[in-house]
Amino acid sequence: MTNSSSPALPRRYPEPTPFVANLAEYILSSQEVWRMPDASGALKLDWNEGTLTHPVVVDAVSRFLSHAGVVNWYPDVTCRRVVEPLTKLLNVPTENILMFPGSDVALDALVRTFVMPGDEAILLAPTYDNFRIYVESCGAKVHHVNLADTLGFNVDEFVWRVEHLTSSPKIMYLVNPNNPIGYFIPPEEIRFLLSRFPETVMVVDEAYAEFAGSSSLPLIGEFPNLFVARSFSKAFALAGLRLGYLVSQSANLGHVNKVRNPKNISMLAQVGAQALLDRYELVQDYVDEVVAARSWFLEMMRSMGGVLFDSRANFVLMRVPEPKMVIQGLAESRIYARDRSYMAGLANMIRISIGTRSQMEQVVRAFQQLPTSLWRA
Ligand SMILES: Cc1ncc(COP(=O)(O)O)c(C=O)c1O
Repeated sequence: MTNSSSPALPRRYPEPTPFVANLAEYILSSQEVWRMPDASGALKLDWNEGTLTHPVVVDAVSRFLSHAGVVNWYPDVTCRRVVEPLTKLLNVPTENILMFPGSDVALDALVRTFVMPGDEAILLAPTYDNFRIYVESCGAKVHHVNLADTLGFNVDEFVWRVEHLTSSPKIMYLVNPNNPIGYFIPPEEIRFLLSRFPETVMVVDEAYAEFAGSSSLPLIGEFPNLFVARSFSKAFALAGLRLGYLVSQSANLGHVNKVRNPKNISMLAQVGAQALLDRYELVQDYVDEVVAARSWFLEMMRSMGGVLFDSRANFVLMRVPEPKMVIQGLAESRIYARDRSYMAGLANMIRISIGTRSQMEQVVRAFQQLPTSLWRA
């Protein structure tokens, strides 16, 4: 109780850790679609999600809603509906897979397992910025490694730069195919890095691997320092259900499992993913369609004078004179793209996710309606 005669105390808040106090926030994409009463005509191409809803998922999830306990019980912590078909699809034993509610959560758990205050982390840049948050919040020092040619990868230059920055990187993060550029690092070069830095926790984020048609998963057995992170948000188009996983040697996953909360993967996520794993041809058809639409879009936009960069993922980077105005102009047609122009080495760049051919035709029409001076470099 306050005593009216005593002076009011200044209001005090608890202090976050110094690591969190100094953290620069991750910049989110537009949330406009969630404010629309009807977002069905909107093209959300700013966060590289899959661009369709699979009817088999909606069916399976809707039917499962009447299953006992789906809302009031904690979910099946074994995730067996997903893990069993996944081991067959990837040809990886069950003990090498650990499930999470999204690969973001997987990366966070992985970092909390291995990274201590004062450790040094190497992030091949430009990159997906959430990983920095996890590392810095553990008190480690992040080194962003930008190469002379920002838009490509050169393994020798990368190694040279890393070795000039630190003699003992605790953790290294490579997104492959890279986000936001879309280049692909071949497995031989990943292998070379794994052998060159055997003491380093090597994280290869393969959120977009299905679109590249190649993966580092076959290296898991050989390299105890390799962790591959994968997502159901992109090729499987299940971002809203939240599901992802780590693949590594079982001894590593045993450690990560101690900090993981297995209750966080909802039954709806499990059942939705199972529906697509049972009908994997639907995923493959979508991937094939996106890959074809990517080539078509690049060719079409280039033929109209656009400057776009090759990509092995479900997005492309484009250099435009007026990035903010282009993003705004597209948004007026309810097409959402991502401004990347504030990232180091990416001046004037915007990133556009690739969807189906008819969705990309819509994007081309929207560009045709914008003044060319805004987007022709
Ligand atoms: C490289 C990369 N990793 C991870 C994620 C997050 O994926 P998830 O939805 O599985 O958490 C993204 C999302 O954009 C990404 O680009």
